[in-house]
Amino acid sequence: MERIYVFDTTLRDGEQVPGCQLNTIEKIQIAQALELLGVDIIEAGFPISSPGDFNSIIEISKAVTWPVICALTRAVEKDIEVAAEALKYAKRKRIHTGIGTSDFHIRHKFNSTREQIIERAVKAVTYARNFVDDVEFYAEDAGRTDNEYLAQVVQAVVNAGATVINIPDTTGYCFPDDYGAKINYLANNVNLKGTILATHCHQDLGMATANTISGVINGARQVEVTINGIGERAGNTSLEEVVMALKSHKDRGFDTNINTQHIYSTSRMVSSLMNMPVQPNKAIVGRNAFAHSSGIHQDGVLKNVETYEIIDPKDVGIDDNAIVLTARSGRAALNNHLERLGVKLDSFELDKVYQKFLELADQKKSINDDDILILVGKEGRLNRITIDFLQVVCGIGVRDVASIGLNIAGEHFEATATGNGPVDAAIRAVKNIIRREMKIQEFLIQAIDHGSDDIGKVHMQVEYNGNHYYGFSANTDIVAASVEAYIDAVNKFVDN
Ligand code: KIV
Ligand code: ZN
Repeated sequence: MERIYVFDTTLRDGEQVPGCQLNTIEKIQIAQALELLGVDIIEAGFPISSPGDFNSIIEISKAVTWPVICALTRAVEKDIEVAAEALKYAKRKRIHTGIGTSDFHIRHKFNSTREQIIERAVKAVTYARNFVDDVEFYAEDAGRTDNEYLAQVVQAVVNAGATVINIPDTTGYCFPDDYGAKINYLANNVNLKGTILATHCHQDLGMATANTISGVINGARQVEVTINGIGERAGNTSLEEVVMALKSHKDRGFDTNINTQHIYSTSRMVSSLMNMPVQPNKAIVGRNAFAHSSGIHQDGVLKNVETYEIIDPKDVGIDDNAIVLTARSGRAALNNHLERLGVKLDSFELDKVYQKFLELADQKKSINDDDILILVGKEGRLNRITIDFLQVVCGIGVRDVASIGLNIAGEHFEATATGNGPVDAAIRAVKNIIRREMKIQEFLIQAIDHGSDDIGKVHMQVEYNGNHYYGFSANTDIVAASVEAYIDAVNKFVDN
C-alpha cells in the first residue's frame, strides 16, 4: 500500500471562516482530537497574523506529541522568523511558506514578474531552512498557474531545500482531470529528489474531494484537508471524505494513518466548538448520511446492509448502541465519554463539567456527545453581559411578553417588551436595555436528537456597524437559547 500523509488545516484554513474563531483552549482540544484521529501534520495557524495565533501554536506544540506541527508564513523573512519562534516547543516542526504563482497573482497582487517570484520563493525556502529541516512550499493559485512555469518554480524550491511541495487550487477552479494532470506533469517534469507533492483543494465548484483523489492517483502523497470541509468561502477538501474514499477503495492501493473510528466524534467537536452546523446530507458525517428512509431502501438494508450501504457507520464511530449517559451515570462514565471525544480534563475541570452534566441530565433523559461538548464549551467564558433572568409569557390567544434582567459589567438592568412571538419579545426587551443599531441577519435553530426534551442549538449572526458577529448557544429552552446566542454575539462587539 502507498502511504498518504494527512495534513489537517482545520486550525488554519478552516479557522479563517468568519465567526469560527477559536480561543487557545478550544484549539488545543481540537489539536488533541486530531492527534487521536491520527493525522500526520497539524497546521496550527499563521503566527504573524495575530498574537492569538502565535500563542496557540506555542500551546498546541506543548500539548501534542506525535503529529508534525506546522506554521504558515508568506515569503517574508519576518513571517518566517516569527513562525520559527512559535514552533520552538514542537517536537516535530514544519514551516509552510510560499507565494502566488499564477499570472493573476504575479501581476495584480505582487506587481512583479515570473523571474522575481522564483527569486522570492527560493529566498524564502532557503531562509526557512536556517530554522527547521522540514520546509513546505506552497505555490498559491497553482490551480490557475501554467504547468511549465509551475514546474520551474517547483524545481527551484526543491533545489533550495523544500521537503514538501503544496499545489493549491486556491480558487477551487480546476476540473479533476486537469488537477490530476498538473500533479502528473510535475511528478514527471521536475527532479523532485524525494520531496512529496501535496494537494490542497478548495470547494468553490464542489470538486475539492474529486480533485484531491485525482491528485493522489497522479502522484501526490500528502492531502491537505479540514474536518467537515470547513474553510473560507465554500470550504476546503474534507478529511472524512478523502480518508473514507481511499479506505472504501482499498484495491487502489492507498492507505492513511487515520483511525476512522474517531471521525464522527472529531466532526462533532469541530462543529460544536466552531459553531458551524454540519449540513444533514453531508457525506460521511451528516445526520442523514446513513439514514435510509425510502421503503425500498429500508427493505434492502434489512435483508443485507450492503445493498445500500458502502460504509459501516461503526467504521466512522457512529454506533447507535453506544452507551448513553443519564442522570445515574458517574464521573468515570462521563470522563470516559470525554476521552473518547478527545477531551482531556483535570479532576477540577471534570468536577465542574460533571455538575453541569447533572443539571442537564435532570432536564433531559439521555445525554449525547453533542450535549457533552456543549457543556465543556460552556466552561470558562468570561462575558461582559450575562443574563440574570428571563421570563416569557407566550402561547395561543395571549400576547407574547418577555422580561429580562441583564448584568452588564457588574450592574443590573431590567426591561420588558411585547413582540411577535416569544423570541421577538425577548430580543426587543434586550434592545430596550442595549440601545444600539443591531440587526439579526441569520437565525438558525437546530435540534440534535429526536426527543421533545432535546437541546436546541441556536446560531445567530448579528450585524452592527457594518460588521457581522456570530453567537451561539444551546439550551433545552429554545427561547433562552435564542436570547443567549444573541447576547453571545453582542458580547463580541459591546466592548468596542
Ligand atoms: O488555498 C491556498 O492557496 C492556501 C495556501 C495559503 C496554502 O491556503
Ligand atoms: Zn487554502
